[in-house]
Amino acid sequence: MVFAAKVTEVPEWGKKLVEIEGQQVLLLKMKGVVYACERECPHQGAPLEGALVKEAGKLSCQRHGYRFDLKTGACEGHPECTLKIYPVEIRGDEIFVELS
Ligand code: FES
Repeated sequence: MVFAAKVTEVPEWGKKLVEIEGQQVLLLKMKGVVYACERECPHQGAPLEGALVKEAGKLSCQRHGYRFDLKTGACEGHPECTLKIYPVEIRGDEIFVELS
């Protein structure tokens, strides 16, 4: 696991883009839960820092509205599109991410 950011650096219902070991990782926080996923939408590559977060644990791509589950990466209605999710661990006030 690698350090990604401090918990306080990710706003509630917000996002923070970080670069870890050369990979861009999007951190999100909803209802106090931190998620980490790849930056680009698996559909057509839209940068997901512009995606909508209106429901806890879900992310809606702004380009065509595909909705992803932030626990599994599954896309509703589009099983061919899976968002890469990175396991997250909180240690104190720090976020660690597993990149494999
Ligand atoms: S690029 Fe994200 S839904 Fe199409």
